[in-house]
Parts: sequence; structure tokens; C-alpha cells
Amino acid sequence: MVELVSPAERYKISFLAAVREAQAAASGLGDTLTWNVDELEADFGKLLNDVRRYEPGKELPEGFVHSEYRWLVDGSHYLGRVSLRYSLNERLREFGGHIGYEIRPSARRQGNGTLALKLALERARELGIERVLVTCDADNVGSRRVIEANNGELEGEFQLECYDRPIRRYWIAL
Ligand SMILES: CC(C)(COP(=O)(O)OP(=O)(O)OC[C@H]1O[C@@H](n2cnc3c(N)ncnc32)[C@H](O)[C@@H]1OP(=O)(O)O)[C@@H](O)C(=O)NCCC(=O)NCCS
Repeated sequence: MVELVSPAERYKISFLAAVREAQAAASGLGDTLTWNVDELEADFGKLLNDVRRYEPGKELPEGFVHSEYRWLVDGSHYLGRVSLRYSLNERLREFGGHIGYEIRPSARRQGNGTLALKLALERARELGIERVLVTCDADNVGSRRVIEANNGELEGEFQLECYDRPIRRYWIAL
């Protein structure tokens, strides 16, 4: 069963394989699987702590909001991740929004991106968020489709001063 879970030790082997895969694919657009594999292998606990560092109860650095990481898994097989910001600040309202997601290269174009956002929206609803902002690069066709398949309503396409290409903002009412 494919589900969203809290990051945990039991996904280590598959997660490391996903990082290696993403680095070998160097697949560009939006990829954030940039961890150092040797460091992960040596101390996976550090990663697990790092991905929890903005959760409620933790002290936030200036300019950060509370957020959580969830991993999309099938059994112990890592498929991808979502980041869910509990609120927006000025920067996230402009670009970034509430939810980000990334699917490992070998699991793309099989509906996993669409499912990851759907499950993240269910989680956002549980957290009491009523309206979710999702943003993407205007030329990220896969991400646009993922958002549109989840009933994203386009606010518009924008050129930001701090970013070199146009972005799109979508809203999803929960
Ligand atoms: C964007 C991303 C999450 C899409 O994940 P995915 O698992 O391939 O998504 P899905 O399989 O649910 O595909 C959704 C739709 O987009 C289409 N699609 C996916 N990738 C595509 C691509 N590169 N080019 C064109 N269409 C694409 C799929 O064919 C599917 O089309 P359909 O609506 O006609 O069925 C994935 O490519 C990824 O992780 N990219 C790197 C990180 C990233 O860009 N994250 C988003 C930041 S906003």
C-alpha cells in the first residue's frame, strides 16, 4: 500500500538508493536529493533529526514556519517526499506555498506525484488548513499536471525579482 509516513530508519536502504539514483540521473528541475550518500550511510539518525527540525515544539530560525516532512512509501520502498508548511509567511506566499513534493526518478510518471499531493492535502486538512497554496515553475509541466489533477485553481503566472524564471501559483480549497 502506498502511503505517507514519518521518515524512519526502516526506509534507510531504499532512501539511500533513491539519493544515488537522483544523483546519477541529475534530473534537474526541482531536485533536492542532494545529500551526501556516505554521510547518510554513516549517520542516518542525523538525517532523521534534520528532517524534523521545523516540527512543532522545535525552536525555529528567524523567517521559518513550522513544517513537516512525510515520505511516500510502498512497504519499505521509498518513492518520494512531501514537505508541508503549516502556515505561510511573506516569502512562502510569494513562492513555495504550503506543500512541496519530489518523486524519485524511477517512480515518476506512474501517478505517484499526483498521489503524493493528494495525501499531503488530506494531511493538511487534518491539520486544519483550509486553503492550500502550491507553486511551481511555469515550465515544470509534470508539477503543473500534478497540481491541476488535485483541483488547483490558478492564481496566475508571475515573474519574481528574486527568481530567474516565471512561476505559477495555485490554490486548493480543502
Ligand atoms: C514533478 C514530479 C513531482 C511529478 O511526479 P510524477 O510522479 O511523475 O507525477 P505523475 O506521475 O502523477 O504525473 C502527473 C502528470 O504529469 C505528467 N508528467 C509527469 N512528468 C512529466 C514531464 N516531465 N513532462 C511532461 N509531463 C509529465 C504525467 O504524464 C501525468 O500526466 P497525466 O495528467 O496526463 O496523467 C516529478 O517529476 C519530480 O519529482 N520532479 C522533481 C521535483 C519537482 O519538480 N517537484 C515539484 C516542485 S514544484
